[in-house]
Amino acid sequence: MQRRSLVVVTNRLPFDESVAPEGAFDWQHSSGVLVSPRHAHLREAPVTWVGWSGHAGPPPELPDTRGLRVRAVPLSEEEIRYHYEGYANATLWPLYHDAVEHPTHHRRWWEAYQRVNRRFAARTAEVAAPGAVVWIQDYHLQLVPALLRELRPDLTVGFFLHIPFPPPELFMRLPRRAEILHGLLGADLVGFQRERSARNFRLAIADACGIEAGQGPVRVDGRQVRTGVFPVSVDTPAVAALAEAPEVRARAAQIREDLGRPRTVLLSVDRMDYTKGIEHRLKAYRELVADDVLTAPDTVFVQVTVPSRERVDHYERLRERVEREVGRINGEYGRVGAARVHYLSRPLDRVEVAALYRAADVLLVTPLRDGMNLVAKEFVAARTDGGGALLLSEFAGAAAELCDAYLVNPHDTAGMKRTLLAAVGADAAENRRRMAAMRAQVTGHDLHAWAELFLEALVPPAADLAAPRGAPLLATS
Ligand code: G6P
Repeated sequence: MQRRSLVVVTNRLPFDESVAPEGAFDWQHSSGVLVSPRHAHLREAPVTWVGWSGHAGPPPELPDTRGLRVRAVPLSEEEIRYHYEGYANATLWPLYHDAVEHPTHHRRWWEAYQRVNRRFAARTAEVAAPGAVVWIQDYHLQLVPALLRELRPDLTVGFFLHIPFPPPELFMRLPRRAEILHGLLGADLVGFQRERSARNFRLAIADACGIEAGQGPVRVDGRQVRTGVFPVSVDTPAVAALAEAPEVRARAAQIREDLGRPRTVLLSVDRMDYTKGIEHRLKAYRELVADDVLTAPDTVFVQVTVPSRERVDHYERLRERVEREVGRINGEYGRVGAARVHYLSRPLDRVEVAALYRAADVLLVTPLRDGMNLVAKEFVAARTDGGGALLLSEFAGAAAELCDAYLVNPHDTAGMKRTLLAAVGADAAENRRRMAAMRAQVTGHDLHAWAELFLEALVPPAADLAAPRGAPLLATS
């Protein structure tokens, strides 16, 4: 039987612009956060990756390497403004994350969204081999499944949403809600991080399109569209190997030394995003410092934020607020040589992030809403020493799997303070027991297993899709 090739379609290509001199491209993470997705493990069968380079203008010509063909989709400066920063990140992103910031609606953004989705569909149609399997990722490209089906009915099309699908009360506010749903329904399989997103999607189909969607497949135009739940994960063996590397261990020891050998190191690592609950955790920390419960120099807090979507208003304002709060905490409670918050606002390399994970006693991950949150899983994967505790928001998708974390509601400042103190004060055996249970989870369900599960659901093994283990892997945070 003929092997079927795979095409992966993402808004952003999985590497940095700096990374492709003379074909020697190395899979670097674009955002600099260790967790960031775009990390590819290549398999033997050729895989084609379609996506945008992250810059305006003509697409880079990238040489085929190691069985991977990269085909870039160009975006103009205006399309970056209207499609990426506008419709994707100022309309859909806030709306899908519980509208924690107010979603903005502009008709010209929607027009650009359609135009860019059409371009992605056309590029994919052009490069996909007959009968190929196409796996489209995330909210930037929700119209692509149906557009692609029109152009190439021979393809098998899967779609995976990395962010939450909102409850219908919110989704129904979207002026072009039915078009978005019809776009997604062009896929054979639509995957979500959690069951509640899959349920919200089915409810939205009934409300916005009048299509009855019970538990089973949805019938659309004589086809069946399946939905499924596939919680994304991290490349656990790769993260663990990195965390064990001598340079990471040495760096972790040095970090504790540089921080003044505190008893407790608290750590947070986030993309600078209002969904991450950065301000909520800083407030809880400030109150604990003010209450004199977390005293210097026994406890230090390291907050790493990676700048993100900086031209979008919500993000610019958030950064100002976060930096004001950090300044306030250090200004009011620090002293010379003893900052209360060590704040780094730039991408860090993988070794540094892994070393920070190893150096930390408690990682605080407190999003107000998050599809998954791979920083939490990556921290667990990095703790091959069995140490460390995880304070995790119940509103992160990861909370459904990492039940042994210290779970918090980030809106409940008193509860967050109490739980953080419990994590800091717990005896080592208790924290090791929790970490062991969480490590078992991320070991059993890593990024490879995620890709395998999705692709097997999309194309059952009998259909002879080339072995999915080692398929191009991507996960986002
Ligand atoms: C989230 C999204 C991804 C996105 C990532 C980084 O995790 O689900 O699709 O790539 O954030 O955001 P950026 O805007 O830099 O691509």
